[in-house]
Amino acid sequence: MTKQIQFFDTTLRDGEQTIGVNFSVEQKVQIAQALEKWGVDVIEAGFPVASPEDFEAVQAVSRAVKHTQVTGLARARKGDIDACVKATKDAVNKQVHVFIATSPIHRESKLHMTKEQVIQSIHDSVSYAHQFFDIIEFSPEDATRTEPDFLVESIETAIHAGATVINIADTVGYTNPVEFGELFKNLRENVKEFDDITFSVHCHDDLGMAVANSLASIENGATRIEGTINGIGERAGNAALEEVAAALYVRKDYYQATDNINLKETKHVSDIISDFANMPVPHNKAVVGANAFAHESGIHQDGMLKNPQTYEILTPESVGAKKTTLPLGKLSGSHAVMAKLNKIGFNVDRAAMKDIFPVFKRMADTKSIISEDDLRVIMNQVKEAVH
Ligand code: KIV
Ligand code: ZN
Repeated sequence: MTKQIQFFDTTLRDGEQTIGVNFSVEQKVQIAQALEKWGVDVIEAGFPVASPEDFEAVQAVSRAVKHTQVTGLARARKGDIDACVKATKDAVNKQVHVFIATSPIHRESKLHMTKEQVIQSIHDSVSYAHQFFDIIEFSPEDATRTEPDFLVESIETAIHAGATVINIADTVGYTNPVEFGELFKNLRENVKEFDDITFSVHCHDDLGMAVANSLASIENGATRIEGTINGIGERAGNAALEEVAAALYVRKDYYQATDNINLKETKHVSDIISDFANMPVPHNKAVVGANAFAHESGIHQDGMLKNPQTYEILTPESVGAKKTTLPLGKLSGSHAVMAKLNKIGFNVDRAAMKDIFPVFKRMADTKSIISEDDLRVIMNQVKEAVH
């Protein structure tokens, strides 16, 4: 059966926790509008109690966004929830996101709370939020390092107090995809309300597994994925939502999932975040990197010229990126050089390439990329040598 997957974007909250990133309120509104166009289901616009600027941003996004759900983040405290109530007052659709850490290391070293106190806090905060919000997402922070039984108890407490979404946070990116499967198996077996609740995951990328963990969670019962555009976020960042969306699209056969993402807007939304965050996207970044649709080696270029599906599982057009490129360099083959020469107006065939290709190779040994102008120089040299 096809599953509907929701995308929860926290670029404006967890994404802004990236060192050196500080979006203005105007930029946050523009990002939220781009995210709405991209098709996310929920936008986490900030942490309203954290600062007057954060409050203002959540309020401005709530007013600017037309139909996407807007949420603010709240610790399990009344004051935080009150700030979310006020900041999201004008949102057409809203939820609140309440969290408290549940793992032993966080309970003992950070919160200085017993298990009983954490349970009481979950009950009190979620019940309080229930007076104001129909949709309440509860996150056990560091859920993946929490004792399995206590995780179930925390989740059951939140559900009984009114939570409608449970978000499993892999706060420090510790867990691997197989363990995510086991964690969800435990939840499916022990959380009585599992089928009536939306299960979400929030994966960090400390070991480079955030996207893989998000996808493994979808296979095991999660129907909401939290992350950020370009994977920005605290430390090594969050799950890159554009990668999750592309994986669900390319591997529809495997995940059997649909979503509301308008994939053609992907490059645009990635560019905006990169620009406002002042964080260039690495060239080799999946889906949105400058090299994601560029092929240099001779064998690959030859394959691409014969059938693009030999080396591309996703077309650049499908994510709104520029066309595939076959940059010419020292590893390029004669087929790609001939194709490029024909494209720029030289009518050359395979026989002519016997003279041209060695000249190309000599130049390619001295430069990383051979431009169209370089090709013209090469053709002049060949012409002179022949006459
Ligand atoms: O990483 C985390 O645990 C969080 C929570 C607030 C969900 O960002
Ligand atoms: Zn996080």
